[in-house]
Amino acid sequence: ARSYNITLLPGDGIGPEVVAVAKDVLSLAGALEGVELRFQEKLVGGSAFDATGVPLPDETLDAAKGSDAVLLGAIGGYKWDNNEKHLKPETGLLQLRAGLGVFANLRPAAVLPQLVDASTLKKEVAEGVDIMVVRELTGGIYFGKPRGFGTNDKGEDIGFNTEVYSASEIDRIARVAFEVARKRRGKLCSVDKANVLEASMLWRKRVTALASEFPDIELSHMYVDNAAMQLVRNPKQFDTIVTNNIFGDILSDEASMITGSIGMLPSASVGESGPGLFEPIHGSAPDIAGQDKANPLATILSAAMLLRYGLGEENAAKRIEAAVTETLNHGFRTGDIYSPGTTLVGCKQMGEEVLKTVESLKEVA
Ligand code: NAD
Ligand code: IPM
Ligand code: MN
Repeated sequence: ARSYNITLLPGDGIGPEVVAVAKDVLSLAGALEGVELRFQEKLVGGSAFDATGVPLPDETLDAAKGSDAVLLGAIGGYKWDNNEKHLKPETGLLQLRAGLGVFANLRPAAVLPQLVDASTLKKEVAEGVDIMVVRELTGGIYFGKPRGFGTNDKGEDIGFNTEVYSASEIDRIARVAFEVARKRRGKLCSVDKANVLEASMLWRKRVTALASEFPDIELSHMYVDNAAMQLVRNPKQFDTIVTNNIFGDILSDEASMITGSIGMLPSASVGESGPGLFEPIHGSAPDIAGQDKANPLATILSAAMLLRYGLGEENAAKRIEAAVTETLNHGFRTGDIYSPGTTLVGCKQMGEEVLKTVESLKEVA
């Protein structure tokens, strides 16, 4: 059997709940497709800070780098919100992304027919939406320098950050996005704020220049404020969206709600080489942590992305995706996607239903 080493990073809040479920699904789908997965679990985020004093211990980064793929739950929580910047759980996650060099974050937002009623948008607006947000993940204002705290000339406290992109950082994410669009419907919308920000002006110039290498792709540009509006006005106009780190963060949360819930959206983060990082787009959901209420489907679907983009195991990936669809067909729903007439289940039971379905699928096309 083909065999791979997977690093599991459950993290904080609902992270451990959803990763436990996704791990079982990953194991079983792999086994049924002749893929052996070996797991090692490591600490990240607030739980790592509590145990070791830092949010990303060297041991965790080394293990992640040495494995074939990494599956992360979520990090963060009230307990650590007042940690110093370099000791925040969020800083650990950013260090992990930077350490793995995973600059391209793919966040698919597709409305499943079974969940149209869970969307807050009208059925005719939400139905059939299928968007891929390609978010730049290791640059921009999240990492730009100078940054910090200081005082201005009036002696007042200030906090400051820098939005900065180099030509090569823009080119490499744009190339990924053009390639992604090519495998989808051939439409790419680059979202920026080029009417105001220099970093966006360069972004638009480089993306426009690259378009000549992809004559088959229909490229358009949109300002981020308009894009936020268009996403809820007429989301079907979008196929692939490429954007910077912070705009991608915000627009992907917005896009998730079109599909019914942030608890549904997976992501894949990949770099030029080395293991990819796979995580749901949601956070640690401290408001529902420890209550068996979390929707594990975003993490289960992230596990499918791990198989596809991280390991090239397409059959096992399809098996998981088909099982999720089938489980929804059976009517099982966690609270975030519940609608009258469906069956309300917790995180664990949703996992068990997906597992049963993974097993029962005879063969996946
Ligand atoms: P969040 O995504 O954790 O939660 C937002 C809302 O969505 C909450 O009401 C939550 O209950 C709900 N929700 C999220 N995931 C869900 C799921 N799987 N099933 C059902 N409901 C779900 O965002 P937040 O509240 O702004 O942040 C909480 C903490 O998570 C913060 O510390 C933040 O920094 C961190 N965070 C981490 C990540 C990550 O690890 N990648 C992402 C976003 C936020
Ligand atoms: C996400 C999160 C993170 C981000 C935070 C927790 C650092 O919101 O994964 O979307 O902003 O990238
Ligand atoms: Mn986010």
